[in-house]
Amino acid sequence: MKWRILTSEEKMAKMEVKTSLLDNMIGVGDMVLLEPLNEDSFINNLKKRFDHNEVYTYIGSVVISINPYRSLPIYTPEKVEEYRNRNFYELSPHIFALSDEAYRSLRDQDKDQCILITGESGAGKTEASKLVMSYVAAVCGKGAEVNQVKEQLLQSNPVLEAFGNAKTVRNDNSSRFGKYMDIEFDFKGDPLGGVISNYLLEKSRVVKQPRGERNFHIFYQILSGASEDFLCKLKLERDFSRYNYLGLDSAKVNGVDDAANFRTVRNAMQIVGFMDHETQSVFEVVAAVLKLGNIEFKPESRVNGLDESKIKDKNELKEICELTGIDQSVLERAFSFRTVEAKQEKVSTTLNVAQAYYARDALAKNLYSRLFSWLVTRINESIKAQTKVRKKVMGVLDIYGFEIFEDNSFEQFIINYCNEKLQQIFIELTLKEEQEEYIREGIEWTHIEYFNNAIICDLIENNQTGILAMLDEECLRPGTVTDDTFLEKLNQVCATHQHFESRMSKCSRFLNDTSLPHSCFRIQHYAGKVMYQVEGFVDKNNDLLYRDLSQAMWKASHSLIKALFPEGNPAKINLKRPPTAGSQFKASVATLMKNLQTKNPNYIRCIKPNDKKAAHIFNDALVCHQIRYLGLLENVRVRRAGYAFRQGYEPCLERYKMLCKQTWPHWRGPARAGVEVLFNELEIPEEEFSFGRSKIFIRNPRTLFKLEDLRKQRLEDLATLIEKIYRGWKCRTRFLLMKKSQIVIASWYRRYAQQKKYQKIKSSAVIVQSYIRGWKARKLLRELKHQKRCNEAATIIAAYWHGTQVRREYRKFFRANAGRKIYEFTLQRIMQKYFLEMKNKMPSLSPIDKNWPARPYLFLDSTHKELKRIFHLWRCKKYRDQFTDQQKLIYEEKLEASELFKDKKALYPASVGQPFQGAYLEISKNPKYKKLKDAVDEKIIIAEVVNKINRANGKATSRIFLLTKNNVLLADQKSGNIKSEVPLGDVTKVSMSSQNDGFFAVHLKEGSGAAGKGDFLLSSDHLIEMATKLYRTTLSQTKQKLNIEISDEFLVQFRQDKVCVKFIQGSQKNGNIPTCKRKNNRLLEVAVP
Ligand SMILES: Nc1ncnc2c1ncn2[C@@H]1O[C@H](COP(=O)(O)OP(=O)(O)OP(=O)(O)O)[C@@H](O)[C@H]1O
Ligand SMILES: [Mg+2]
Repeated sequence: MKWRILTSEEKMAKMEVKTSLLDNMIGVGDMVLLEPLNEDSFINNLKKRFDHNEVYTYIGSVVISINPYRSLPIYTPEKVEEYRNRNFYELSPHIFALSDEAYRSLRDQDKDQCILITGESGAGKTEASKLVMSYVAAVCGKGAEVNQVKEQLLQSNPVLEAFGNAKTVRNDNSSRFGKYMDIEFDFKGDPLGGVISNYLLEKSRVVKQPRGERNFHIFYQILSGASEDFLCKLKLERDFSRYNYLGLDSAKVNGVDDAANFRTVRNAMQIVGFMDHETQSVFEVVAAVLKLGNIEFKPESRVNGLDESKIKDKNELKEICELTGIDQSVLERAFSFRTVEAKQEKVSTTLNVAQAYYARDALAKNLYSRLFSWLVTRINESIKAQTKVRKKVMGVLDIYGFEIFEDNSFEQFIINYCNEKLQQIFIELTLKEEQEEYIREGIEWTHIEYFNNAIICDLIENNQTGILAMLDEECLRPGTVTDDTFLEKLNQVCATHQHFESRMSKCSRFLNDTSLPHSCFRIQHYAGKVMYQVEGFVDKNNDLLYRDLSQAMWKASHSLIKALFPEGNPAKINLKRPPTAGSQFKASVATLMKNLQTKNPNYIRCIKPNDKKAAHIFNDALVCHQIRYLGLLENVRVRRAGYAFRQGYEPCLERYKMLCKQTWPHWRGPARAGVEVLFNELEIPEEEFSFGRSKIFIRNPRTLFKLEDLRKQRLEDLATLIEKIYRGWKCRTRFLLMKKSQIVIASWYRRYAQQKKYQKIKSSAVIVQSYIRGWKARKLLRELKHQKRCNEAATIIAAYWHGTQVRREYRKFFRANAGRKIYEFTLQRIMQKYFLEMKNKMPSLSPIDKNWPARPYLFLDSTHKELKRIFHLWRCKKYRDQFTDQQKLIYEEKLEASELFKDKKALYPASVGQPFQGAYLEISKNPKYKKLKDAVDEKIIIAEVVNKINRANGKATSRIFLLTKNNVLLADQKSGNIKSEVPLGDVTKVSMSSQNDGFFAVHLKEGSGAAGKGDFLLSSDHLIEMATKLYRTTLSQTKQKLNIEISDEFLVQFRQDKVCVKFIQGSQKNGNIPTCKRKNNRLLEVAVP
């Protein structure tokens, strides 16, 4: 658990708030203040508080706790802090207040404490004891070692609850043993360790459970939570129904997770300090107990007529023996025989089936209850204080509550006896405490009447005539002893006791009481009448375990089992009977009582609000019954017999000082004097209170309530006063603040307004100013302009006037037409200047030079252009004049070519740069052509190789082309033989394309001698030159112009056929060379790139 540490501010805040139990009470927090005091008002008060979740109520220092059956948020770390170091009556009733009081009294006043928690089953005792422990753990010292001790003390609870608690019809986690735990502290209040005492485990539950109830939790926890492996080791199966000892009708409890609890228990065992092998041994014993229930017997008759029994199925026995390390035959024999030893004599008798079952169950019960006691011893070993220094002790007693069932047996008798003793000690200690307080405070003690249950305790525990003594006597008596003989004895001895009732008793009172069966006796306990069945009393008191069985157990190799049965050791045979269960219990109760008497008692009285284990249900009758037997009303009466309420002077003065002017707001003197003044002032009757040494005692709750009412009224008045003053103060402060603010705002506003006004005036002034300035400036400007115009006018007038005067003066000196002459002279001068300048700026004489100086005067434009033209013509003439005759001829030819082909034939531009050579083939120098030379006696104008196009396929054949003055000749290139000779007069036309190719056709006059073979289709690289020369020669010889046709499609006469030659542009099949192809009879196609 983690506790939050408060900050210093929170602590301060807490310290400043002085509270009291009386604040915000629901009903009354302390029953002592109940008015009127009777059973109804008592129950109503509890109910009212319960309905408002107030489960705790005080009777003085006793805490009544009502089980809420649901978790309330009142146990948080914040609550712990709230109750820490606070006086008992300072806050509303709480179990933490009692725990804190007890702890501080132990730590600061060195008083050992005991916390006695009583109440019936399911009333919340165990929970209360755990709350006390956890509160103390939270507020006591800290540190690693201390924390370990705390943890071990707290973790002992789950272990003991697993082995000692069971589900009953009254409580799902009912403690089936009594527990008293001493927690030991050192002088600082740090826990050192603890000692646990356990009382009378209800071992009969091991072998049989009433309907609707379960065996101890641990059996179910093992079977649900252990791993398969572990179960196998323990030779157990998970199925509950396999085990006769497990009540099946409520094997599962709602809201209880046995498997998870098993893990918690194992973990707790580890924290408490159990070694692994010890834990293992413990679970082996539990397994053995469980398996014992499965051993069954069958009858077997012997010849001598004695009844005998036999184990039905030895398998279970075998497994138990393996688990515990007992020789199987030894255990088997122990279940079959009983040996009685008396005065060195051993007598063995056989056991019949019933006896065998009895022996089996006795063994199981003993085994389990001894294991439980061993666990307590083992835990004590772990948690015991390690130092020998003097310890302070806080004991917490959580013992089974008073039980009244339909069938009450020995166990209920014992339990109720214990409760009777506790009630006695409660009465004694409460009275003692009250008396002590009166003595301490110096108040006179008045005798108080109350019911003392000592008489009932005496009926049970009296050494001679007590019921327990009688039972022991019966058990030890020789002869036949039965439960009936025991009852008879009771009837004889106790008949006259006023709290004992029996049908058979001599007292005739009950002879006719049919509600009291013959086999029963009834005791009037302080808590009510309880009827006990005598059946089983003797047996249970004897608590007999056959010696054969204890010896068999001692022989086990299992060290824990061996240690549990020390009396089985043959070397230590004790013929004396062991003490009976009743006497053992009586002794331990006596020790407990003695122990408790030495300590300062603190009481928690637990009450169960309903039988249904349900939240929010408050059963008046059930609560009434509990209140009665717990003697709570009596408790209140005892508290109120003298003075109902008491309070320290300091808190009393603090609470009521506002009721008197002298004490309000401060009293500067001892608190007691202050209270005296206060009470005098309030005129409280003297018999209503008494002044103790440190406390004021108030006799009647009415007086206290009157004080409370006055206080409440006064607080309201004070609140009104405070409110009034506060409101006034607040209004005044607000007013002052507003006033101040108003001044500030007004000053700011004025400043702002003035600023605005000033700015407006300023800008208006500027505007007015600017208008005035503008007006003035314009006026000035107008004046100046006027003045200027006047001046100019005067000047002009003066100039005209002077002009007139001068002209008039000089007219006689000027000749007529002088103007025209001046004009002409000026013009001449200009022209002169122009030509002189032109002379210097003349461009070069190259006809292609485009430069020409810029025109100086516009009126000379046409002259300038004309001059340029003349100059160009002149320089061209100059250029031409340089030519020789030869050159002239060439240029004439070139000119001719230009006229013929320029812009008509694409081949022309390329020919411009080429000089026209004419005789490309030097025939005269080549001997190969001697014959050809000889045949041509005229001057050769052109001698060149051309390609003659074959008319059949368009292929070319080289021919020498010769042009003479009169003829055109074609000769074989190799031999020089003349192939054709055409007089120029027979050539009618030359055709060629407009494209960049050298093809041309020479058309011949129809009917001429040469025309027999048809026209020539030729191609030459010098087409332009050849065509030009052919044209000129023809013109000079025939005086007729040769027709030159430029067209991309023309007809050529081949013998009889006319073939069309067509030029197509674009094909580049043979690079840049035009190709000629015959397409059909009528078409020859020339592809020009
Ligand atoms: N303060 C509480 N707040 C919430 N639930 C409580 C409180 N006290 C008791 N209970 C519930 O009541 C049940 C019974 O309480 P508890 O086991 O303390 O009873 P008991 O008086 O010890 O009974 P027994 O005599 O049978 O041991 C608890 O298991 C729990 O559920
Ligand atoms: Mg309990």
